[in-house]
Amino acid sequence: MSHQSTYDPQTGIEKWLDKRLPVVRLAYDSFVDFPTPKNLNYWYTFGGILAICLVVQILTGVILAMHYTPHKDFAFDSVEHIMRDVNYGWLMRYVHANGASMFFIAVYIHMFRGLYYGSYKEPREMLWILGVVIFLLMMATAFMGYVLPWGQMSFWGATVITNLFSAIPLVGESIRTWLWGGFSVDNATLNRFFSLHYLLPFAIAGVVVLHIWALHVPGNNNPTGVEVKDVKKDTVPFHPYYTVKDGFAIAVFMLMFAAFVFFMPNALGHPDNYIEANPLSTPAHIVPEWYFLAFYAILRAVPDKLGGVVLMFGSILVLFVLPWLDTSKVRSMRYRPIAKLWFAVFVVVCLALGWLGGQPAEGVYVLWARIATAYYFAFFLIILPLLGVMETPRAMPKSISESITKAHATTTIGGAAAQPAE
Ligand code: HEM
Repeated sequence: MSHQSTYDPQTGIEKWLDKRLPVVRLAYDSFVDFPTPKNLNYWYTFGGILAICLVVQILTGVILAMHYTPHKDFAFDSVEHIMRDVNYGWLMRYVHANGASMFFIAVYIHMFRGLYYGSYKEPREMLWILGVVIFLLMMATAFMGYVLPWGQMSFWGATVITNLFSAIPLVGESIRTWLWGGFSVDNATLNRFFSLHYLLPFAIAGVVVLHIWALHVPGNNNPTGVEVKDVKKDTVPFHPYYTVKDGFAIAVFMLMFAAFVFFMPNALGHPDNYIEANPLSTPAHIVPEWYFLAFYAILRAVPDKLGGVVLMFGSILVLFVLPWLDTSKVRSMRYRPIAKLWFAVFVVVCLALGWLGGQPAEGVYVLWARIATAYYFAFFLIILPLLGVMETPRAMPKSISESITKAHATTTIGGAAAQPAE
């Protein structure tokens, strides 16, 4: 939340800089003395984790690009060269490839957290919308990055997805040719994907700055969904409370990340991508990376190609209008007993869609994918709008500090814990 600056430059150089370009003041007010609700739980550490993921991807990506060759005759071999000949090239590549997966794990948790605590609601609509923009950019970046090693899955994945655009009436074919830069996925496609894959992360970084700006204007939401009433009672300074909490969460996350990189670096990838792209041989099953599977399931749930494309893009676009679809006055689902149940089903449905996207598009899998797709859209378009007016929420705490003291009182009433320690 906007607050009075408390930065007090001490040294001559700090004072000199502060008069001309107060960047240190900005950083201090945003990440040191920023009043932050004192009840943020570990779900709130994923924003910081995401920022680290972005930095890791950019650093390893820039190093990989020093040895990678974006040409269809050399791309595959240049990646093998990185793995075998370049000092620590294997590490850079495995960190970058697994880093993409870690990034998506973190972003999905971050988004579900936002859904559960109603963080997209007034006055944080812009924050949420910028998040959805970041998500779209992340998907585009990851999709184009996966094409670069020019393996079988790279090539055929790119072919399937770019072909989807041809379903658009009248202009579809032209759009596809324009995207390819030719008449099939070929060298021009690989080269432009490399160019854009290098560019987009910096666009993401720019939107992340706006995202954090939009966060700092109203301030963080929190698990109660109740706004800060009294800065003294309800908040603590960001540093050291949340620098330490975020730091701990980042360390634990890095351990999981390292477990993948060092013990199972190919577990999340597809073995077919270790076969060089061959336009004359189509793999038996073309599957995207795990983080796209839920959207792939929605695409294939519809028998009509254009319909599938519309629903797949629609499943993300609906997030843009979510702040206006959810009619509930109560932000956090902690106090919405019915919404909480529907939300739990929604999470299961999303996981199920992810699983179904990896199964062959036939028989019972398609049926389940249709049911899950219907629920996905119903959750946003029917359930949330209706529940907001029909559900009776539970009693809310008057303030953040009250929610903490009340919870503390109920856990200690009548028990030995209420007694002071000897
Ligand atoms: C590169 C990707 C992203 C980065 C680096 C990032 C960063 C952050 C940070 C640092 C915070 C504050 C700490 C926290 O609440 O976890 C935050 C909050 C938030 N982010 Fe993101 N974010 C990203 C993507 C997204 C996406 C994809 C969405 C949603 C579509 C989103 C929605 C939100 C919301 C609603 C909040 C406010 C949460 C609250 O105060 O309750 N973010 N983000």
